[in-house]
Amino acid sequence: MSRKILVTSALPYANGSIHLGHLVEYIQTDIWVRFQKMQGNECHYVCADDTHGTPIMLRAEKEGITPEQLIDRVWQEHYDDFRAFHVEFDHYGSTNSNETRDFAHAIYRKLQAADLIEKRSIEQYYDPLKQMFLPDRFIKGECPKCGAKDQYGDNCEVCGAAYTPAEVKNPYSAVSGAKPEMRASDHYFFKLSDPRCQAFLREWTKSGTLQAEAANKMQEWLGGEGENKLTDWDISRDAPYFGFEIPDAPGKYFYVWLDAPVGYMGSFKALCDKLTPPSLPLSGEESAAPSPDKGRAGEGLFDDYWKQGSTTELYHFIGKDILYFHALFWPAMLQHAGFRTPTKLFAHGFLTVNGEKMSKSRGTFITARSYVDHIKNTEYLRYYYASKLNGTMEDIDLNLEDFVAKVNSDLIGKYINIASRAAPFLTRLGGGCISENELNRYSQKDFGVDSSIDVFMSRLNDWREARYILEGAYENRNYSGAIRGIMEVADSINIFFNNTQPWKLAKDGSPASQDKARWACSIVMEGFRLLTIYLKPVLPETAREAERFLNVPPQQWEDAASFLPEGHCINEYSHLMTRLDPKLIEAMVAANQESLKPMIESHSPARHAEAQQHAPSPLTPLPQAGEGNKIAALAETISIDDFSKVDLRVAKIVNAEHVEGAEKLLKLTLDIGEEKPRTVFAGIKSAYDPEKLKGRMTVMVANLAPRKMKFGLSEGMVLAASGDAPGLFILSPDDGAQPGMRIK
Ligand code: MSP
Ligand code: ZN
Repeated sequence: MSRKILVTSALPYANGSIHLGHLVEYIQTDIWVRFQKMQGNECHYVCADDTHGTPIMLRAEKEGITPEQLIDRVWQEHYDDFRAFHVEFDHYGSTNSNETRDFAHAIYRKLQAADLIEKRSIEQYYDPLKQMFLPDRFIKGECPKCGAKDQYGDNCEVCGAAYTPAEVKNPYSAVSGAKPEMRASDHYFFKLSDPRCQAFLREWTKSGTLQAEAANKMQEWLGGEGENKLTDWDISRDAPYFGFEIPDAPGKYFYVWLDAPVGYMGSFKALCDKLTPPSLPLSGEESAAPSPDKGRAGEGLFDDYWKQGSTTELYHFIGKDILYFHALFWPAMLQHAGFRTPTKLFAHGFLTVNGEKMSKSRGTFITARSYVDHIKNTEYLRYYYASKLNGTMEDIDLNLEDFVAKVNSDLIGKYINIASRAAPFLTRLGGGCISENELNRYSQKDFGVDSSIDVFMSRLNDWREARYILEGAYENRNYSGAIRGIMEVADSINIFFNNTQPWKLAKDGSPASQDKARWACSIVMEGFRLLTIYLKPVLPETAREAERFLNVPPQQWEDAASFLPEGHCINEYSHLMTRLDPKLIEAMVAANQESLKPMIESHSPARHAEAQQHAPSPLTPLPQAGEGNKIAALAETISIDDFSKVDLRVAKIVNAEHVEGAEKLLKLTLDIGEEKPRTVFAGIKSAYDPEKLKGRMTVMVANLAPRKMKFGLSEGMVLAASGDAPGLFILSPDDGAQPGMRIK
């Protein structure tokens, strides 16, 4: 009986690009889904962009667009990236959808009815300038333990200490630089400390839903029997916030992590509606009227998968960093809102490159797009990841040298070569048609192989029987085991080919020899077909090409149990895959080396607790590699004393406005910590909208002699970059710099 399976991958944040680390997860999931589909199971794979939260709101603001515009653009980028890597979702949605909002509201109301929601006033840092409450990650200051400067509000990157924002010394807002104030506000909590939640989670954790390592972690979080370690979860955020407003709580929004997993349901609902469109009205005139049932048609399928007690299977593939959300909050929410809970969580480890964390300065923080631009063939990476993944939470390493070696020796040297070597003989000797696959038509002696053990008569059977082991390995996400098994089969096929030496037999010209050669090549070709089936979850594109070459319909897993019929003719062989050139890797790494690019981004991306990466500002398009070399000649050398005559200061633009009658100028009011702000006329009107400049930090020359201008006195100068290419770019200090700080 075929299984009914719903599979998800974590929803990527809508404010950063997909990189090779993300792809560990999406490729891992996609392989599993393709395998399930090949097995003939009903399997749905959904995902979506995770679109809410403060970082997305702020980034859109910085780019001068609405959050909706930002998430639309990023959705398309993510979608294209996944397609390029053959990650095939049945639906790719967005958490900013009606479906997700409806489910989030419904779940919240159910939790409320079950008395699991509580309103409480809490104190939190507030940015008086930006007029918003600050998530922990947007507070910076000195570490209370070691005193390191410019540390985040929740932990120190220098000494590793964890603390609360209230403990940070000399805190400042990472958004505006302002000194934050403690303010009280009402928040909504999901009562995870309630005995019902505790009891449920204890039970759920033990019921085989988690990998061993994950179950251990859970025990740690839950504490021993009788202990109550779980605390209530703050699920609301105050306006301004980009997200869903909480029902009957104006100005309060669901925290992004409340609606993010609900996005799994929302995306699946959209799929259900796509798969079972509302039935068409019978008469023509009715068709103009909107169907009152629209959106309800998919409900049967939806309920099948989500109602409490459902017998379908639900799996979430996630990174180990988000286990907490998926193993605690999410099942507790579902359980108490009357939905089914996940069958299993499949957590994986993190990607390292050449044994180290991905790094921008080493050029190993590689985006999906950059991989595609340089290497094109994305199946190389799918294969390499598969050869490393073993279904545990261990980190996996992408060793770039090993990557090239493995792809070339396994994929080209072992798999593809079988077809490219055997096909020409089959074409020449049998018109490309398979001879009888009768196994014992010839024995090894007929090929002059002198061995007391049977070196190849049983081989074809072995290759075919391998499917049982491989299917177990795929099912358990032990892809590295599957790949090892597949390569053993490939080795065996190559040995068979080498032993039968069809190239010699073909030369000999006698009908008997030719028949033997054709027989051997037929068996080898059958072996190639089996390998193609086994590798198909990993290499969908190559498998499609190979099926075309073999002249067979799309192969399912069970096709490994049957034979190509006698007289079946293959097509002429043409290249199925080329070798991976190490130069491409070098070029990719060089292109990703941050020191080559004027990136605005300064700190390593903090991904959770609402702090997601700040991408390069769109105001400063990155030059293409090489473009940056065409710079104007350098000015003559100066001494450090010459330089220190210039007093550069961090300045906050407190106001910016147009100047009547001035074509190029904007009038800026700059705070550099002095009693009175300075007025500076700057020739940047062509590049900046004054509204967008307000509140921004920049750099000014503070000891330039004041200059009388037609429009008033200019008391300094702001710095901006320009070159041959159009555009004018003012400078920004790194997060945390305060007005008046000297630049030296
Ligand atoms: N938006 C949340 C997930 C919400 S799910 C309801 C999120 N987004 S993410 O973009 O930061 O990460 C998406 C997935 O990619 C996560 O499962 C994360 O663990 C995984 N990875 C991100 N970087 C990774 C590596 N460097 N290595 C392996 N997986 C990584 O988390
Ligand atoms: Zn510290």
